Amino acid sequence: CGIVGYVGNRPALGIVLDGLRRLEYRGYDSAGVAIVDRALLTEKRAGKLANLEKAVADGGGAGLGDGTTGIGHTRWATHGGPTDRNAHPHRSQDGRVAVIHNGIIENFGRLRAELESRGVEFTSDTDSECAAHLLAEELAALGDAQAPQERLAEAMRRVCRRLDGAFTLLAVDVQAPGAVVGARRNSPLVVGRGRGENYLASDVSAFIEHTREAVELGQDQVVLITADAIEITDFDGNPAQGHDYHIDWDSRAAEKGGYDYFMLKEIAEQPQAIADTLRGRLSETGEITLDEVRLSDQDLRDVDKVFIVACGTAYHAGMVAKYAIEHWTRIPCEVELASEFRYRDPVLDRSTLVVAISQSGETMDTLMALRHAKEQKARVLAICNTNGSTIPRESDAVLYTHGGPEIAVASTKAFLTQLVACYLVGLHLAQVRGVMYADEVAAVVEQLRGTPSKVNKVLEQMEPVRELSRDLASSRSVLFIGRHVGYPVALEGALKLKELAYMHAEGFAAGELKHGPIALIEQGTPVVCVVPSARGRGVLRDKVVSNIQEVRARGARTVVIAEEGDDAVAAYADHLILVPPTPTLLAPLVTTVPLQVLACEIAAARGHDVDQPRNLAKSVTVE
Ligand code: G6P
Repeated sequence: CGIVGYVGNRPALGIVLDGLRRLEYRGYDSAGVAIVDRALLTEKRAGKLANLEKAVADGGGAGLGDGTTGIGHTRWATHGGPTDRNAHPHRSQDGRVAVIHNGIIENFGRLRAELESRGVEFTSDTDSECAAHLLAEELAALGDAQAPQERLAEAMRRVCRRLDGAFTLLAVDVQAPGAVVGARRNSPLVVGRGRGENYLASDVSAFIEHTREAVELGQDQVVLITADAIEITDFDGNPAQGHDYHIDWDSRAAEKGGYDYFMLKEIAEQPQAIADTLRGRLSETGEITLDEVRLSDQDLRDVDKVFIVACGTAYHAGMVAKYAIEHWTRIPCEVELASEFRYRDPVLDRSTLVVAISQSGETMDTLMALRHAKEQKARVLAICNTNGSTIPRESDAVLYTHGGPEIAVASTKAFLTQLVACYLVGLHLAQVRGVMYADEVAAVVEQLRGTPSKVNKVLEQMEPVRELSRDLASSRSVLFIGRHVGYPVALEGALKLKELAYMHAEGFAAGELKHGPIALIEQGTPVVCVVPSARGRGVLRDKVVSNIQEVRARGARTVVIAEEGDDAVAAYADHLILVPPTPTLLAPLVTTVPLQVLACEIAAARGHDVDQPRNLAKSVTVE
């Protein structure tokens, strides 16, 4: 979910709605706002933010007044379907407070029963609503002894102490105009420090056009913002410190810049994103440099096992990384879905390195895997795109991908930069452990530096892929096959198509096809085949070509992605997409690109919302 709060001297409504627009990628099942004027006014609607904006406009907007204190929410549903009544804000029964929430309150069943036994009537199916009622009760219990704003902060602390689970909460109280209180446990919340105005948000993109000065809240903290002050305490009321930082993202980077979709813009930005991620990584002495390192070289030399944990697209980057890390370092490396990792009791100790890959740095599954690893004394290295987010903050070392903000829900440039970061981590480990010499590392970095121009070349040749997309848009199902690093590329191609086009799509290891999935092939079934380089590991290429023949013999329509110069492969391709020759391990940086374009164009041809596919959210901060 996306959360925004504002207190200042300007009307809050427009600012909150603008902030929500920038956070909409975090969820778009429903949206709502609450404004404190002389009264507490709320409006909320199921569906995308546009529905709320329309409701606000139809009500004359003035319906919500010119109040200069407000909060807003855009939801990714967990408890309770995406309906008007389940949309946030939730109000207390007496109408005094409005609360918005991101996360899951795990003890809500018990709290709800308790509140109902005291006569509270719930108006939604959400876990969040109980926070509104509890807050109203605490406010009432506190009486008039304190100033209204102090009382709001104290009531929030009392509520937080009673909640289990993960939450970011924001609340306003009609009796405390000019203040918004926020709280966080395991869910993101940052403060934007303005002049005569302050902001709260799930991430900085919500307020970046107003201020570049941010304060990161720590775990289990409550913050009270007014127009002129930011007061932070822990849940017991002890004064606490946030972490001040300056945001150097360009706010224009979070706009579409002439493209129809953010996704197309982000696909086009990939060459730059790769180059930015590589910039400055090779020191004059030929060492790979990470960003924040709270690990010694000796710690890295002691590593005898690497675990990569991640979700979704980042998991596919991890699968590619396994091939590179094992090849370069000779350390065994496993890749695990973060949501599975801690529940299967993996064998970890001080000499295990856990690499957590996350674009947002907030994905709850990945964060929990990381914490589990740390409890077991493993070392954790984060690969992340979002400076100062929770996952890098809690890790022992960090390598930031410099992809810039990624807004489209389906990840593209983040994926390619994650690959680059994984390669760098592999090279760094190999170097520290003396398995690779500086000149060998430099040679790979040089090859990496050649990839942005290759990706550019792929992007220049996408017209046939666009045509093919229109053709495939009516297919029932599309299969993807690949071997070695081409296998995760096949999985990623299939995931993109599922996410965006809502089509049945599956990726397989090409060699595994004959052990079952080949039964899916019917006359005309499209099969996208990722063919490895004919040079170097030619054996691999020949094996994939055999697999292509197997599917063709059963009626498949083949879309073959192969290296320029691999002329022989044309004979097996109903559609041939050529990419510039790239060393085998680095090939996913180029072979993934046509698959991204394919999925994006098929989704557009089917009339879907490319940037905000149904049921999804970009950063999922619940387990
Ligand atoms: C969500 C997104 C995916 C993304 C995954 C991991 O499910 O929809 O596109 O790959 O989270 O996100 P992260 O921010 O941890 O990379």
